Amino acid sequence: MLVLGLETSCDETGAAVVHADGTVLSDVVQSQVKVHAPYGGVVPELASRDHLKNVRPVVVEALARAKVSLADLGGIAVTCRPGLTGALLVGVQAARGLAWSRDLPLVGVDHLVGHLLSVFLRFPDLAGPPAPAYPFVGLLASGGHTALYRVDGPEHSQIRELGATRDDAAGEAFDKVAKLIGLGYPGGPVIDRLAKEGNPEAIDLVWPMRRKGSLEFSFSGLKTDVMRWVEKNGLPGDDQTLRDLCAAFQRRVVDTLVGKAVEAATREGVTSLVLAGGVAANRELRERGRARCEEHGLTLVVPPFRACTDNAAMIGYAGSHRLAAGENDAGALETSPNTALARVTRKGRGLRS
Ligand code: KG4
Ligand code: ZN
Repeated sequence: MLVLGLETSCDETGAAVVHADGTVLSDVVQSQVKVHAPYGGVVPELASRDHLKNVRPVVVEALARAKVSLADLGGIAVTCRPGLTGALLVGVQAARGLAWSRDLPLVGVDHLVGHLLSVFLRFPDLAGPPAPAYPFVGLLASGGHTALYRVDGPEHSQIRELGATRDDAAGEAFDKVAKLIGLGYPGGPVIDRLAKEGNPEAIDLVWPMRRKGSLEFSFSGLKTDVMRWVEKNGLPGDDQTLRDLCAAFQRRVVDTLVGKAVEAATREGVTSLVLAGGVAANRELRERGRARCEEHGLTLVVPPFRACTDNAAMIGYAGSHRLAAGENDAGALETSPNTALARVTRKGRGLRS
């Protein structure tokens, strides 16, 4: 069965044609990075407008690259949560229109489930790592989300949050720190590049909730500590100080993510740890993750970069299971800013049970 996936939850307009076995026939992503770059972050209103402009061209392109027409599809899968409401509505309405016009079944997909299952995508032009067997632990670290999950299968009921961030997502921390020290948006790739030549020990920053036992994250304190450092020392002018600051910040984020992910995998008794989300592109996260996994007898599975960042192929694949089971949300598909996955971590400060 072939599925058309659609993704418009944040700042990428994506359309893809995937086979239910994970083979990607086409994967088109129109990034809005340039639209939001002047503001140092995603502006929701601008995102919705840009999706509206791009949604038709990306669908046309995805069908053309896959050399299929709507008549060849077995169904449509669209991101319906979590995300920016105005942005989600564009994708959902486009998908409803397409499904209605061809009487195709349509299913809504939770964006986070898409990320967690992206490891099963197979790109014919890219040699990816072998897919893990269920169950595995997934570390999802992106601009909007940071959490650990136990994944027993592709259904929502088979995915359980083990711990999430109480405040900023890891990618958000990269983006905010980059903005603060004048490195532009998005911050992850540029901090990653500068950190490579920096000394992570040269500048003493706080460690973000590194204590053992808790699988929750908190990155806002580290961000504030970088802010304090800048207030005290001024913006790093000379190149080496800038590199050291990036290295010190990145080391703290990476070691916290890796430490908790390995602890989660060990605790759950699984053999594979899967990375997902844009932060999975980070060089140091991959290197230190691999080393720590080896020490603990775990296999680290890192999907190709294209599968880690926002894309519609992961949405098509995640929706294919429900479409194959004959499900259809066409009559009652709604959007939500929240994930459908049960959450165990509460956002913000305060008493936790
Ligand atoms: O998954 P994604 O494309 O979109 C969201 O769903 O948020 O992730 C984007 C995030 C941004 O915050 C970006 O700064 C971060 O991923 N990112 C990185 C790297 N490349 C992208 N963070 C750290 N190191 C990188 N190399
Ligand atoms: Zn995402």
